[in-house]
Amino acid sequence: MKLYIWGTGCGAGDLADHGLDVSQVCAFLDSAPVSDCFLGRPVLRPEAVGNEKIDLILVANRHVEEIAQKAAELGIAADKLIFLKNNWQLCDRNRDYTAAEKILDQSYLDSVRAPQHAVREPLWVQGSPLSPRDLENDYVRTRTLEAICRELEDVPGAAAELGVYRGGFARCVNALLPERTLYLFDTFEGFDKTEAKDTAAGFVQAHRNTGADRVLRLMPHPEKVIIRQGLFPASLGGLEERFALVSLDVDLEESTLAGLRWFYPRLNAGGYLLLHDYNAPRLPGVKKALLRYEAERGQRIPAVPLCDVNGTLVLCKDHKLNI
Ligand SMILES: C[S@@+](CC[C@H](N)C(=O)[O-])C[C@H]1O[C@@H](n2cnc3c(N)ncnc32)[C@H](O)[C@@H]1O
Repeated sequence: MKLYIWGTGCGAGDLADHGLDVSQVCAFLDSAPVSDCFLGRPVLRPEAVGNEKIDLILVANRHVEEIAQKAAELGIAADKLIFLKNNWQLCDRNRDYTAAEKILDQSYLDSVRAPQHAVREPLWVQGSPLSPRDLENDYVRTRTLEAICRELEDVPGAAAELGVYRGGFARCVNALLPERTLYLFDTFEGFDKTEAKDTAAGFVQAHRNTGADRVLRLMPHPEKVIIRQGLFPASLGGLEERFALVSLDVDLEESTLAGLRWFYPRLNAGGYLLLHDYNAPRLPGVKKALLRYEAERGQRIPAVPLCDVNGTLVLCKDHKLNI
């Protein structure tokens, strides 16, 4: 096997720790080499090897498009390259890993193939109560929720979601905060007709398609869940509670504003409110609602925007330390 490794950085060094027998490598390839030797093997410019001298190139560098283009220019057949750092844009360029399976550890290749491998996994992921399925919908949003829940140890209060739909996100909150009461507020029959009168019909129709029982069955700790079915804020029914975590996801302006007015003052210091769709172009009412709420308060709320699928904004409550 005439094997080459494209790259002489950390990615290439990693391969030696994941099953690669370096003595089998003809050469490392680098278009701007800093040395003529890496891990005891020669370093060549890609121009120095022709297609016929190559059986396989493992590309251990994340400049995937640039390398694919360079290889094509040099007449190297595309099926001779396997990109090991290929999905920084959350897509897998490789069709076939068979050749790499003979060279590298299976666990290493599993991590290369994982759709979320573009996001370096934090150390605590191994012990996560979330399943791969929980992460499929929106990896960044869900993992951010997990990171936030890990910050709540010293923050008292319940958890809540306003706008639950089928309970996909509520399930994650319930899994991550198994000791806390979780209030779930929704009509479980979709949006208020008057409020949604200008909203696209398909969107409105789809949100009717759920039910409180169905949501409850999805929860890993249903004994901690309190369902508040009905139109918010009427569904509060005199509730008195304080919160450590709130997910606010009702899509439309008036309901979002009602949610901010009720929940934000009841968020304990150190708590978080996740405002879903804040940067979603198709749901401009969410951002308008926050601006209206801040204008009422005469104060901006400290917040961090996420680059998740629908542009969540994470609002914080300041936290005085007893020093
Ligand atoms: C986008 S869905 C929620 C999705 C869910 N948070 C998730 O991530 O899977 C919006 C939900 O808000 C609910 N909703 C909107 N306005 C509401 C209101 N005023 N009172 C109760 N529920 C409301 C709708 O019924 C719908 O189920």
